[in-house]
Amino acid sequence: MQPTPVSLDQVDLADLDVFERGEAWGMFDTLRREDPAHWTEERDGGSGFWAVTRYDDIERIDKDPETFTSTKFTNLEEPPEEFQERRRSILETDGPRHLAMRKLLMRDFSPAQLRRYEDFLRGLAALTVETALQQEEMDFVDAIAADYPIAVLARLLDTPDEMTSKLVGWGNEIIGFSDPEYARVLIGSEEAQQYRHLPFSSPVSQEIYDYGRTLAAERKDGDGEDLVSKLVNRLPEDGVPLAQEQFDNYFLLLIVAGNETTRQAISHSMKALIDNPDQLQWLREHTDKTQVAVEEFLRYASPVYHFRRTATREVELHGKQIKAGDKVVMWFASGNRDEAKFEDPYALRLDRMPNDHMSFGKGPHTCMGSNLARFEMRILFETLIPRIADIEQTGELTRVRSNFVNGIKRFPVRIVSQ
Ligand code: HEM
Repeated sequence: MQPTPVSLDQVDLADLDVFERGEAWGMFDTLRREDPAHWTEERDGGSGFWAVTRYDDIERIDKDPETFTSTKFTNLEEPPEEFQERRRSILETDGPRHLAMRKLLMRDFSPAQLRRYEDFLRGLAALTVETALQQEEMDFVDAIAADYPIAVLARLLDTPDEMTSKLVGWGNEIIGFSDPEYARVLIGSEEAQQYRHLPFSSPVSQEIYDYGRTLAAERKDGDGEDLVSKLVNRLPEDGVPLAQEQFDNYFLLLIVAGNETTRQAISHSMKALIDNPDQLQWLREHTDKTQVAVEEFLRYASPVYHFRRTATREVELHGKQIKAGDKVVMWFASGNRDEAKFEDPYALRLDRMPNDHMSFGKGPHTCMGSNLARFEMRILFETLIPRIADIEQTGELTRVRSNFVNGIKRFPVRIVSQ
């Protein structure tokens, strides 16, 4: 759906109310058209940022870590210098060390390796769908989208079943760091100051660290095939073992990065299908093309609104002087609606090809779990769509209060199954 136009003087990408209402798209359109490198003041003490909204600019920035570094952190928050090493994950590491850390698990996320999990995924998707369809009325997020990605991750990490709901809760709290319903301690709040040594300034990060360490101790020097065993027993190719905090933050990132995002992608996709019945019909008739449809689901959903970089030198962009040290925010969601790149970008076209969306980023930090997320989505929709005779939304959809994740909290639906 085409968004309501917004005038440039009303654009404010730091206003979380707008994101909670799902109305950021009009702001992105205005910025791409009128001010593609737009200075934005922050209201929680942040130093402000340049909002970059055009596809080509975002791609250029993401692919140029020498000019736009990740090492000064990649969310809007600016962690104090003294805590940066403690909090640094692969996301906030550049250069050869980044590559070495990435390669530690990269091949485990390759399509060939992931194919080993196909039977497991099909079984899990069938169980998720059949359990949900026992009732007609449900919250789609709770019943279908939320637990499925985390159950997959639990399998990859080889954690016991009773931990799964804990993992979901941790993911919610961390990613919902700016939403009072999710976060025990709201980012930017007085109370969060005492947790600034932890990722997202959240006490939950410590719980995740502790759990990761327990697993690591159990699996050190073992021959486990799970991701934790690989993290503790493999040596990065630069020969430098993972330091304790590097392990902690890697483990935390795996839990956080893969769950909310995939959940959101699934929920948004279903919402898009309800809003576009012709596309739902197309998918019913072309289940064999679900893999192609997933790319459009990902573009349309844009589960991650942005990631941040920091300029390492002065650079000019669309007539604006970006200074060394300035925060530069790549609005991937906006790039995914760039009319210079995608024809009719607000239309859901499941057979869109090519579909070079930027939902997983574009540079050296491109999502490591992209193949997994695609695989999970394909199998879920291949399982779910043939079981739906009719589906409608029965109540208000509510969103996560965040300009980082494009998240759906509640999505009431009625599904008549067949
Ligand atoms: C639809 C689901 C997902 C979306 C939309 C998503 C999106 C992203 C984005 C935008 C980035 C940063 C890219 C950049 O800065 O250029 C990223 C990085 C990352 N993602 Fe995902 N992600 C998803 C699922 C997953 C899954 C399932 C996992 C693993 C279990 C995962 C693990 C990671 C990791 C480890 C990184 C850091 C990579 C690096 O710094 O080199 N993600 N993801």
